[in-house]
Amino acid sequence: MYNDVDRVLFDETAIQSRLQTLAETITADYLGKELAVVAILNGSLIFAADLLRHIPLPLTLHCLSIASYHGGTESSGVVTFNQLALPNLSGRHVLILDDILDSGLTLEAVSKRLTEAEKPASVRICVLLQKRKERIPAIAADYIGFEIEDEFVVGYGLDYQQRYRNLPFVGVLRSEAS
Ligand code: IMP
Ligand code: MG
Repeated sequence: MYNDVDRVLFDETAIQSRLQTLAETITADYLGKELAVVAILNGSLIFAADLLRHIPLPLTLHCLSIASYHGGTESSGVVTFNQLALPNLSGRHVLILDDILDSGLTLEAVSKRLTEAEKPASVRICVLLQKRKERIPAIAADYIGFEIEDEFVVGYGLDYQQRYRNLPFVGVLRSEAS
């Protein structure tokens, strides 16, 4: 598995240190409020687990299972909600967590659906990674771990065909492996 990685972009130490700072910013922004965190599965599982342990605020955690990538390294544009029921977020301050903002189609679909169906007090987006690229929809994350170039990465929750999520770092996959 490690041999399939061309180069490491962010190792464990870099990720943990960035998450600490990101968590401090989020904590300061939501001081005195109660958060409803919506983690998009499977990609944000490891990110959410580490980030949330650095946020000492009262919060509730909700998981949404979404499929938006269908195998390859390009976004299919089709966003499927794997569960019918949405968490009750009415009047809540919602923070959506995802692994990466690529085309933006997933996060746009999720935030639109939650906003329309649940009437939350506020909705913000937090991602571990944001790719540097133009996107339609013009969606941007409110909190970003790291900005990266437009290349395909795996590890720390991110997959290629469901594999590599357990790598402790974020790295670029060798082209022969994809
Ligand atoms: P979107 O294109 O912004 O809708 O991203 C959809 C999903 O594609 C993300 O939540 C990830 O699960 C996946 N994805 C996008 N870029 C990458 C990547 O570089 N590596 C692994 N998964 C990715
Ligand atoms: Mg994925």
